[in-house]
Amino acid sequence: MIARICPLLLLATDAGPPENLSIFDPVSPPAFRIRDLLYLVLGVSAVIFVLVEGMLLYSIFRFRHRESDGVVEPPQIYGSKPIEIAWTLAPLLIVFVLFLVTVRSVAEVRPSEPPKGAMRVKVVGHQWWWEYEYPGLGFKTANELHVPIHTPIDCDLQSADVIHSFWIPRLAGKTDVVPNHPNRMWFQPLEANLYLGQCAEFCGTQHANMMIRVVAQAPEDFEKWVENQKKPAVNDPAVRTGRELFLSQACVNCHTVHGTSAAGTFGPDLTHLMSRDTLVTGMVPNNREELRNWVRNPDTIKPLSLMPNMHLTDRQVDSIVDYLLTLK
Ligand code: CUA
Repeated sequence: MIARICPLLLLATDAGPPENLSIFDPVSPPAFRIRDLLYLVLGVSAVIFVLVEGMLLYSIFRFRHRESDGVVEPPQIYGSKPIEIAWTLAPLLIVFVLFLVTVRSVAEVRPSEPPKGAMRVKVVGHQWWWEYEYPGLGFKTANELHVPIHTPIDCDLQSADVIHSFWIPRLAGKTDVVPNHPNRMWFQPLEANLYLGQCAEFCGTQHANMMIRVVAQAPEDFEKWVENQKKPAVNDPAVRTGRELFLSQACVNCHTVHGTSAAGTFGPDLTHLMSRDTLVTGMVPNNREELRNWVRNPDTIKPLSLMPNMHLTDRQVDSIVDYLLTLK
């Protein structure tokens, strides 16, 4: 609401979901807690601001120099016990209350134990994409995190290279993703929707293109998605040429396609590539045209990404893309 009135406050826009990235529009308990704390701090600060500025302005005008005053210095008054006590105790009390509320908020946003009944997801930040592993379910995916609504999601945050930061404003506060130092965070979407987020720590030239997509689904839709993700890759005989070409290239050093010999782990798991709506961390829609651009020369979409230009011929690119398009 406030973000709509004052767009400078945040990234929020008038656009509805999923472009809504406003922390003032939470849909998950930690995000509610953070917003409420912000409102409280803003409110207290506003009252102090109005009081102090009000007294200042009043004094400036009420006691300003007048011609009739002559040049005499105004009376100098030192020390008033009641005032000294009041302006020591009042801030102390305010700071103490804010401290207590902050401690309570931190305990809720970052509990020492995962919330009851939480689903664990391992989130690995890479330059510049996100890997999501579902340890309880036995598969990995990339860039589009699917979760069931009303279930606490306990994220185990790890980095494969540099410091990233995992931030989906409507679901939870940002948490740094630090190499060799696993962090945890949790959220619990209360509405089915697509929630967008963003890597919030500068991690290299493509930091701004390290976007986050969380697809919160009704439990039955999530189950359907899980069932599909658990299957090995589709093996369509019509694209045998493309599959063999893919498996003969260096693609297999970085990508996994379950049910084939491709078992690389540096890049995203492609077993169910076509179940994702976007490519390249949400930069472009996942379709034939963008797949062709990406496979032919990744630099046209994301310069300096670790996906190399394989210098394939147009026919080879088409053949590999035909194969990739079957990986539903
Ligand atoms: Cu990853 Cu910024």
